[in-house]
Amino acid sequence: MRTEVAIVGAGPAGLLLSHLLARAGVESVVVETRSKEYVASRIRAGILEHSSVELLTEAGLGDRLRVEGHQHRGVYLQWPHKRHHLDFVDLAGRSVWVYGQTEMQKDLVAAHSGPVLYEVSDTRLHDLTTDRPYVTFRDRDGAAVTLEASVIAGCDGSFGPSRAAVPAPARRVFERTYPYSWLGILADVAPSTDELIYAWHPDGFALHSMRSETVSRLYLQVPNGTDPAAWSDAQVWDELAKRLGHGQDGWTLAPGPITDKSVLPMRSFVQTPMRYGRLFLAGDAAHIVPPTGAKGLNLAIADVALLARALIALVKERDAGPADRYSDDALRRVWRCTHFSWWMTTMLHASGDPFDAELQLSQLRWVTTSTAGATGLAENYAGLPI
Ligand code: DHB
Repeated sequence: MRTEVAIVGAGPAGLLLSHLLARAGVESVVVETRSKEYVASRIRAGILEHSSVELLTEAGLGDRLRVEGHQHRGVYLQWPHKRHHLDFVDLAGRSVWVYGQTEMQKDLVAAHSGPVLYEVSDTRLHDLTTDRPYVTFRDRDGAAVTLEASVIAGCDGSFGPSRAAVPAPARRVFERTYPYSWLGILADVAPSTDELIYAWHPDGFALHSMRSETVSRLYLQVPNGTDPAAWSDAQVWDELAKRLGHGQDGWTLAPGPITDKSVLPMRSFVQTPMRYGRLFLAGDAAHIVPPTGAKGLNLAIADVALLARALIALVKERDAGPADRYSDDALRRVWRCTHFSWWMTTMLHASGDPFDAELQLSQLRWVTTSTAGATGLAENYAGLPI
């Protein structure tokens, strides 16, 4: 097989890239190890930045988002006996939207027209520093396939073959692991809040998020290595009620049936550069952020917006300028979001050290009472223009 752009990975990054390229008349083929059903059903992020929504709308992917998604002006930050609303619209002129990655993936699949080969195996990338790179894999029936391309886009996450295809001397890896994880639940119950609540608590962080008027998504800080089955539903709700301040100023947390329970490890990871010869990395293939602040999906969308422009210029206009600048341009945003995610994480999670706890509370008081402090958080959370 031959195509212009071989895309490894059919998650939001890979499918959005393929969609933006197709709109500009650039052909691509997407390969994916998982099944279509698995990719469409996995539970992931839920918050879209202002610029992500603008980009999806311009790409013709905003119709359902604008009907079924929910625009939020800001978030609540809280600690015991205090809850503050930060209004991003007032502070930074930008809002965010609640719309699940699962829903965005469905929209991408529905809008997509080019070939996507699911359930491939043994994917390998070859001859990346030549102008005839290619990908080999086995299709779902086990037949060996060679896919030749002008360029390869690695959109296959941090465990995929793309980032590992960059030889060690050419790549640098920056990494931080955190001494805690999140226990995340999805519950069939109306959210107990109009906008997200980020709660600092001496026993650990908690977050009240949502997916719709009838589905809530909540998280608890738990120790690394926690088995989700070790937490009963009643224990989860009790701990959430305590950390989120049930009873505080008349606020109550409504529990409901839990439909999913899982543990997410937290890590920061950046691999540079994001380009090696004819291979371009986008999304989790190049970087992972801890979830606090909801940057992962938005960063993937921002990478893809830059990469689509760069590849269209390269393939259609034979202009290599944007492609040559892609890694540096994308990494500026990647490091800003890496810092913001690390900062939100360290500000809100209990470390067990009383000195850390006092610094965190001081920082929370500053961020909620100083316009300068609040504006910094708002700009980063609602997202800078792409
Ligand atoms: C969600 C996840 C986050 O990490 C976050 O900061 C906000 C919301 C969510 O899954 O809804």
